[in-house]
Amino acid sequence: MIRHIGIILNGVTGRMGTNQHLFRSIKAIMDQGGIKVNDDLTIMPKPILTGRNANKLAALAARAGGLPYTTDLDAALADDSNEIFFDASGTLQRAGFIEKAVKAKKAIYCEKPTAVETAEAVRLAKLCEDAGLKNGVVQDKLWLTGIRKFKLLRDQGFFGRILSVRGEFGYWVFTGEHEGQPAQRPSWNYRKEDGGGIIIDMLCHWRYVIDNLFGPVKSISCLGATHVPKRLDERGQVYDCTSDDACYATMETANGIVCQFNSSWTVRVRRDDLFTMQVDGTLGSATVTLRKCFAQAAGVTPRPIWNPDIEQPINFFQGWQEVPDATTYDNAFKIQWEEFIRHVVLDEPFRYSLREGAKGVQLAELGLKSWAERKWLDVPDVLG
Ligand SMILES: NC(=O)c1ccc[n+]([C@@H]2O[C@H](COP(=O)([O-])OP(=O)(O)OC[C@H]3O[C@@H](n4cnc5c(N)ncnc54)[C@H](O)[C@@H]3O)[C@@H](O)[C@H]2O)c1
Repeated sequence: MIRHIGIILNGVTGRMGTNQHLFRSIKAIMDQGGIKVNDDLTIMPKPILTGRNANKLAALAARAGGLPYTTDLDAALADDSNEIFFDASGTLQRAGFIEKAVKAKKAIYCEKPTAVETAEAVRLAKLCEDAGLKNGVVQDKLWLTGIRKFKLLRDQGFFGRILSVRGEFGYWVFTGEHEGQPAQRPSWNYRKEDGGGIIIDMLCHWRYVIDNLFGPVKSISCLGATHVPKRLDERGQVYDCTSDDACYATMETANGIVCQFNSSWTVRVRRDDLFTMQVDGTLGSATVTLRKCFAQAAGVTPRPIWNPDIEQPINFFQGWQEVPDATTYDNAFKIQWEEFIRHVVLDEPFRYSLREGAKGVQLAELGLKSWAERKWLDVPDVLG
């Protein structure tokens, strides 16, 4: 049997909506023949695209092979065959859309951050919970191939006791002022009043990464910066950057693991990937990239001696072994989409709720406060 499930995809003409959610997730699931649950049951998404601009929607719907679309969100919400409402519109638009979808009794799934303030993120989580609606927030990094390989090592006890984690995220985002180097991120990211800022953007991710991989975050010290004060927007106009473009954060977990994460749109990359994360433990270490994981066990750790007067005799990159592919690694967003759809249709567990998403907003808000007050802050355990 094929069980169709109507999914409203709202705000999908944007960067994330189009690439990750429509093409690499929902369309990819449709193209693979749906989600095969067993020999008797396959779940098939039936998306409808919603947004403000009919022309943009029409073009996108055509590119995706002729999907239905509408600018009349209320009508899409009134249709009972649409069981899931998904939102990838701007962060500041999210609350209004979630409120509408809750009234229409849809299962709610959306991009992070759910809001820019903890109280608002918790309010949205409670709205869904009180209405008894299934809900989820995108936490894609957990399904990155490199992270999945890391988890395998961790679960096998490779690290011994994990001591520290160092994440390095970022790349140079062009300011747009030089011809031939257009900005590669939307300008709202650099305006606080439009929901921008790398602290709110990235600490949401690092919260669920640390909570899920290393243990609950207990405290944070964070320094932000607006290194580049002016950029050019989509119309070529100069604007003032009112939000942070770099975040230097140190966090401690409840079990004493020190996690440092740098996030920046103002660094040039001379490392393995746009995101790298080194984990050091008593018995082994690993470096994680988006798709790879390199490991070094205690017994093969080289014995360096500090001597700047000679060329370095050790090639440090050679002492690492790559974790091989052990299975097929699908797109991270798609894997989470499949889990959410199975949660809605089959009632399978799904822990990445709006409440979990609110924890990310909480860490970001505390990061901003830590920066403003120049001090360490504890993360209160108020969100369950
Ligand atoms: N999970 C991740 O790794 C990740 C990465 C980047 C962005 N995001 C999040 O995804 C969201 C979108 O980011 P983006 O980079 O795609 O931005 P974007 O500016 O490219 O897309 C935003 C989309 O929302 C639409 N929109 C805005 N207001 C709307 C309204 N009132 N009604 C309907 N549509 C509306 C815009 O037209 C646009 O299509 C943000 O909340 C952002 O924080 C998540």
